[in-house]
Amino acid sequence: MAKEKTLDDLFHDTLKDIYYAERKILKALPKMARAASSAELKAAFEKHKDETEGHVERLQQVFEILGKRAQGKTCPAIDGIIEEGEEITEEFKGTPALDAGLISAAQAVEHYEITRYGTLKRWAEVLGMKDAVKLLDKTLDEESATDEALTGLADASANEMAKAA
Ligand SMILES: [Fe+2]
Repeated sequence: MAKEKTLDDLFHDTLKDIYYAERKILKALPKMARAASSAELKAAFEKHKDETEGHVERLQQVFEILGKRAQGKTCPAIDGIIEEGEEITEEFKGTPALDAGLISAAQAVEHYEITRYGTLKRWAEVLGMKDAVKLLDKTLDEESATDEALTGLADASANEMAKAA
């Protein structure tokens, strides 16, 4: 029989997954900020890049709580989501629909992160890791706020601009 795996193993694996994802996102966000046409969307991406640096640091603290080395594990899901975002950037460059497309790509990233942090937070609760719960919850709040801010930008201008063309 295979070695018994428990919630601790799931928690550690998923932590490595989101650690990989956050560092990929950190590299993608400046490119998205450069690509965006509206000043508001550029600013939103830049702000979230700063927040993402904090997310990486918080994850390093959670690894420390676990007594494990901070280490990523390739996450094909985030690689695919970011790749689709790059495709949109290429294919819609110079068109009025670019920002609406960039927002949709960024929201796919946020939703992926929200599922991961939501799960990790609950598992940390079950495992009695109170400090980890706090750290994960702070990041979860920032991801959700970013998602809402992006919806706001889409509603306020990007979708209409894309449509009017
Ligand atoms: Fe994040």
